[in-house]
Amino acid sequence: MKPLNLPGPNAKRLIERDQAVISPSYPRGYPFVMDHGKGVEVWDVDGNRFLDFAAGIAVNSTGHSHPKVVKAIQEQAEKFIHISSDFYHPKWIELAEYLDLIAPFQEDAISFMTNSGTESVEAALKLARFYTGRSQFIGFLGGFHGRTLGSVTLTASKPHYHRGFFPLMNGVTHIPFPDPYRPLIAMRPGEDVGSSTIRYLEEEIFGRTIPPDEVAGIVIEPIQGEGGYVIPPADFFIQLRDVCNRYGILLIADEVQAGIGRTGKWWSIQNFGVEPDIVTSAKGIASGMPLGAMIARKSIVTWPKGTHGNTFGGNPLACAAALVTLDLIENEYLDNAAVVGKYILERLKKIQERHPSIGEVRGIGLMIGVEFVTDRSTKIPATELRNRVEHLAFERGLLTLGCGRSVIRISPALCITEAEAEEGLAIFEDAISVAEKEALDLADSPVLVEKG
Ligand SMILES: Cc1ncc(COP(=O)(O)O)c(C=O)c1O
Repeated sequence: MKPLNLPGPNAKRLIERDQAVISPSYPRGYPFVMDHGKGVEVWDVDGNRFLDFAAGIAVNSTGHSHPKVVKAIQEQAEKFIHISSDFYHPKWIELAEYLDLIAPFQEDAISFMTNSGTESVEAALKLARFYTGRSQFIGFLGGFHGRTLGSVTLTASKPHYHRGFFPLMNGVTHIPFPDPYRPLIAMRPGEDVGSSTIRYLEEEIFGRTIPPDEVAGIVIEPIQGEGGYVIPPADFFIQLRDVCNRYGILLIADEVQAGIGRTGKWWSIQNFGVEPDIVTSAKGIASGMPLGAMIARKSIVTWPKGTHGNTFGGNPLACAAALVTLDLIENEYLDNAAVVGKYILERLKKIQERHPSIGEVRGIGLMIGVEFVTDRSTKIPATELRNRVEHLAFERGLLTLGCGRSVIRISPALCITEAEAEEGLAIFEDAISVAEKEALDLADSPVLVEKG
């Protein structure tokens, strides 16, 4: 496969201008400068075409610029663009009614609209403290919940999210996430990675440092995103729900990345058969318009007028986009995510058989992680090789994003077809072959070795 010559001249010029005026804190991986997109295809400012397996970090749920979403935004823009959350408008109410219908619990749902994932998480933390009158939270190592001071305290995927920002929010304790591929807690006979995690929480955290009756909420991504697309064992959530019930702790499911149909169900926690108390959403909810929601059981939402709000919450353009997005997902893309997701997972497992650098392929629906290792028996993360695969794929016309220490996430728009998946997977495999060959050429022995 012939690599493109990237970045092209227009991209180069724009990146230079960007570097002069835009915060250097953004984690840009490679120099893609977008011009336009349609569905799963995107074009850069030099006219190069790419397939998009990243979807703006799992955001463009209906693909780029779906005509129905564009039309809904245009029509709303002609009526009014903003009124502020001090007043009312129909689309905001319709959206909350829709969320009530699809919320992953029996009880009625109340929604608080936000502008981002982190703001949804902040709202959940505040509501949990307000409702329970307790201060403490339990989070999970590897978790990602945002970058504002409350949510970033729960975030525990990389130290650079915290470096230079202490002191963070008071009252957060992290425990290991039940990762079946890399369990952190030694298991006793009869335990699995899920039950050992529950024992650790009860014996080592509640039994030694944090009284459970001071814990407001357990905040968890049902499938970890940024932490490496990690899927807990099937019955872990049943045990976690039981802990929450016993101690009156709220179960807060952060569905910002895994929700809104990505796993072939509305919410990723629905793959595990339990109901949370609060759900945080954003990313895919409005096909890329900045919108989030904190969705809670009605009985929990006891905060009175004036206790929490925002200026842009329930923005009419974002709500118009969300209503069409949810309708498209319900009628077309939920099933597609499940079917094409399964297809991609199987194809990746075949690719794994041909490539020793792939330690594991895992996923549900269109939330799929490919984990690279230096050696399948030691499972040492092959971070540099993963970074190289990501770059080589880009040069061949495929956008992907890394996560965890050595994982590439496959998180395309939920409308992706099998043909588009095939085209992208061929590029992905070619990138892996080249990266593996480069690593072998560099190494003294035939075993893959990480540099540095
Ligand atoms: C699970 C999860 N929670 C929260 C966030 C934060 O969302 P945002 O970047 O919109 O603030 C993210 C973003 O990647 C996420 O994946």
